[in-house]
Amino acid sequence: MKIVKYPDPILNKLAEPVETIDDNLAKIVAEMFKAMYAGNGVGLAAPQVGISKRFFIVNIDPHEQSPEKLAQNEYVFINPILTNFEGEQEYEEGCLSIPGVNAKVKRAQKVTITAQNLVNETFTLELDGFFAEVVQHENDHLDGILFIQKVSPTEQIAIKPQLNALRQKYQKEKRKKAKASAKKAKKRKIKR
Ligand code: CO
Repeated sequence: MKIVKYPDPILNKLAEPVETIDDNLAKIVAEMFKAMYAGNGVGLAAPQVGISKRFFIVNIDPHEQSPEKLAQNEYVFINPILTNFEGEQEYEEGCLSIPGVNAKVKRAQKVTITAQNLVNETFTLELDGFFAEVVQHENDHLDGILFIQKVSPTEQIAIKPQLNALRQKYQKEKRKKAKASAKKAKKRKIKR
């Protein structure tokens, strides 16, 4: 499973609610956890893997060695709703879709999240600290918002070169893909 990188437009889209919670979704979620761990992340939202749907995964303790304990810390939030934002905190954030970019973001210190899980139960968690921060970051992805939009003007200037580099890389890969598919189309024509 590939992680979509900035500035792919899917990252700016408002994601649609999940309508069916089934085995297929569970399979996608399992793949997402693999991709998240491979990238050393603590959270991953569906739009980041090219799925514009309202769900994300979190494990704020991804370095746990035993598979059982690792699984215990895995959370899936489907159609989440965040309420009761309280206080303020600031963390240096990063994002698997924006590699190499880190910047401080101010968010609520406490938040309540209500969501569905993979067995279609609705649950509520009252979170604070790092878990609260991660959940707010991931929930933003479902609304097409990236953390880089929330950093201070000074930090925005600081991260500009890295963002430019990512944009250039994205355009280059896009051109490469377009070329490859044009080549394929030509081949098909010749065959006919
Ligand atoms: Co992110």
